[in-house]
Amino acid sequence: MHAPSIRTPQFIQLQIQSDEALRAELTAGLLAREAYTSPKYLYDALGSRLFEAITELPEYYPTRTEAAIFSAHMAEIATRLPAGATLVDLGAGNCEKAARLFDALQPVRYVAVDISVDFLQGALQSLQRQYPGLDMLGIGMDFSASLALPSQVGDGRRVLFYPGSSIGNFTTPQALSLLKQVRAACLGGGLLIGVDLVKPHAVLEPAYDDALGVTAAFNKNLLLHINQIIGSDFQVQDWAHQAFFNEADSRIEMHLQALRDVTVTWPGGMRSFRQQERIHTENSCKYTVAGFEDLLRAAGFGAVQRWQDAQGWFAVFWAQA
Ligand code: AVJ
Repeated sequence: MHAPSIRTPQFIQLQIQSDEALRAELTAGLLAREAYTSPKYLYDALGSRLFEAITELPEYYPTRTEAAIFSAHMAEIATRLPAGATLVDLGAGNCEKAARLFDALQPVRYVAVDISVDFLQGALQSLQRQYPGLDMLGIGMDFSASLALPSQVGDGRRVLFYPGSSIGNFTTPQALSLLKQVRAACLGGGLLIGVDLVKPHAVLEPAYDDALGVTAAFNKNLLLHINQIIGSDFQVQDWAHQAFFNEADSRIEMHLQALRDVTVTWPGGMRSFRQQERIHTENSCKYTVAGFEDLLRAAGFGAVQRWQDAQGWFAVFWAQA
């Protein structure tokens, strides 16, 4: 007797930013007159787990609203998408959302892309045990600046899957640039994307400032992650979580606000913050249906199909490349 052959997903780690480059990027933001950090630093091991917890909060409607749209319309969505495609999951995280598409879509290959490769590895390995027949590939990369998929993804038609309204982290010009690259990467397939829509402040703001304080912990954990990367001495208790809807820019902004005058030091640098001074840690843009369809068209996509919930809080778009 011989042991059954067990597929193990292949992993590729691309363009790891050197520690030096990460430190330079972070300190440049911290030293800016209006301090800021990239939202990618929210996702260390603990940050990724805290984000998973956020998705289960009563106030955080996007994840469950999107899931309800997919389960209500899966059969119709599947008929619009090319069969036998390579499913490329951008920001795969725990890979759960893509896994729910497998039965209807029957992809020939599943490619999970995420910046947090350690988190991805565990998720993809357990998914491979559930779907032993599906060819799987994990790619650790930061596609926020450029989406250059390696040749191992293959040259078959691709369905790029970008759920969760992660596109909201980008400003409109950045989102346009990413969507153009996504369109090119589809190789004639298309994009299946989840987008959070503009809605009343009374719904938007609690989603980013929940009663349990999980989003506050997610935001403040950034300070621990920064301490780890640049060796700084941020004290979590010196900072307050802040989240509000910026109407003019149609986005939720997250900030960390100093509760008192604070001086932060790290090897080779320092920054003083006055009481109430802030670090801008995330934007989460909210679109109108018309606004997002314009963006898809500007990126060069063709026919667009859309599904949404009855309240019009969230939309899923299929855009032909
Ligand atoms: C993962 C970027 C979609 O903007 O809603 C959740 C991140 N930040 N709560 C979002 C987030 C605070 C989330 N995205």
